[in-house]
Amino acid sequence: VDKTYIMVKPDGVQRGLVGEIISRFEKKGFKLIGLKLFQCSKELAEEHYKDLNQKPFFPKMINYITSGPVVSMAWEGIGVVPSARKLIGATDPLQAEPGTIRGDLAVQRGRNVIHGSDSPENGEREIVLATLLLTRKHQRATSEVLQSEQNPYLDHKTTALWFKEGELCEWTPIQQPWLIE
Ligand code: GTP
Ligand code: MG
Repeated sequence: VDKTYIMVKPDGVQRGLVGEIISRFEKKGFKLIGLKLFQCSKELAEEHYKDLNQKPFFPKMINYITSGPVVSMAWEGIGVVPSARKLIGATDPLQAEPGTIRGDLAVQRGRNVIHGSDSPENGEREIVLATLLLTRKHQRATSEVLQSEQNPYLDHKTTALWFKEGELCEWTPIQQPWLIE
């Protein structure tokens, strides 16, 4: 089953939108398997968004993501990755359709309230199993962030980004037979 990493960014937390956002995913019928309020370090933000590190807005974006606590969530469900992207809406909230989270709740790309993984592979990577060859600096920084000196993945030159293994919950929601035939 697919997993996606969803993050309420610092503006969403400051604006009191956490409940509203969680509610949209709950009502849709996806399963919450991980949740925490978390102050993201610069190193983690840079690792998470490393594909964008050549963009002119990159430093501003890292400041934004680290400017206050974020809410980290892992959601599970068939097709959850593309469906969450649809619920979230376009990167630019002014282009996002009404009815989407960004379309309803934001006005600027640089304050767009929420992140969602863009592929199942990135969902896995962002949640727990980053099979990345990290530089020594990143390994140290990330392991400090996660306080995970005993994280077994680090020994295999892999690391967790936003969650440690024990932080995810496998459970069966009682509504499941009413959601999935
Ligand atoms: P995420 O779910 O956060 O990854 O957004 P996305 O997948 O819709 O967009 P993308 O991965 O291309 O960009 C990541 C984030 O960088 C966006 O969500 C914005 O917060 C920020 N960003 C992207 N483009 C711009 C831009 O032109 N200006 C500014 N200030 N921020 C941008
Ligand atoms: Mg993205």
